[in-house]
Amino acid sequence: MTTSHPLTQDELKALVGQAALQYVVPGGIVGVGTGSTVNKFIDALVGMKDQIRGAVSSSVASTERLKALGIPVFDANEVESLAVYIDGADEIDGHGYMVKGGGAALTREKIVAALASRFVCIVDESKLVAALGRFPLPVEVIPMAAHHITRRFAALGGAARVRMKDGQPLLTDNGQQILDVTGLTIADPLAFESEVNQWPGVVTVGVFAHQKASVCLLGTAQGVVKTFTY
Ligand code: A5P
Repeated sequence: MTTSHPLTQDELKALVGQAALQYVVPGGIVGVGTGSTVNKFIDALVGMKDQIRGAVSSSVASTERLKALGIPVFDANEVESLAVYIDGADEIDGHGYMVKGGGAALTREKIVAALASRFVCIVDESKLVAALGRFPLPVEVIPMAAHHITRRFAALGGAARVRMKDGQPLLTDNGQQILDVTGLTIADPLAFESEVNQWPGVVTVGVFAHQKASVCLLGTAQGVVKTFTY
C-alpha cells in the first residue's frame, strides 16, 4: 500500500486484519477473537464468507458482529478442532507470548485458542514489547475471591484493581469480574501463567504463554511484517 501520510493505528489494524485472510482455510470453520483489530478481520472475512462454513467466536461482541455480516457462528462445543484462531493482543513479545484481556474476553479467547492448531496474532506495532508487563494484566476472577487474589498479587509487587463500568464492577460474558494488575514483572511467562491459574478463584489469567502465538502479523509503517512462525 502506498500512502502520502503515515498510517494511522486504525489503518495498521485494517492492514493486518486483511493480511490474516491468507490463514483462513477454505471449507473450514475459523476461530475468531475479540477487539478492534479483530473487528477489521471480521469485516475483511465477509469477502470470503461463501468459502467458509463459519466461525467459532470468543465473545458476545464478535458473535453479534459476525452474525450481522451473515457469517454463521458455531458453539465451541460443536467443533472438535479448528485449523486456525485469529486474534489481537494487548502485548506480544518476540517469543509469541502475549497479554490479552483488554476487552475482557480472555477466558473465551483461551478456550477457542485451545481448539486451534495455529494462533495467528494480528497487532499494530505499538503492541510489540521486549518483555510482558507494560500493559495492566487482566485476570478474570470469581467475585468472592477478588480481595484474596488482590492480596496475592500485592505479595508479588502488583497492584490489582477491579475493572469498573458505569460505576459498577464490569461483568464479563461469563458473569465474572476482571482485575487489572499493574507493577508486575513477568520474567517467565510460562511459569507465571501456571502459577496464577491455580490460585483459587482465578478463572483465567491474561498471560497467553502455554497457548502462544504461532504467527504474528505486525502492522508497521513499512506494511505487514510476519515476525515469527512456530
Ligand atoms: C480482548 O479481551 C483482548 O484480548 C483483545 O485481543 C486485545 O485487547 C486487543 O484488542 P484491540 O485489537 O482492540 O487492541
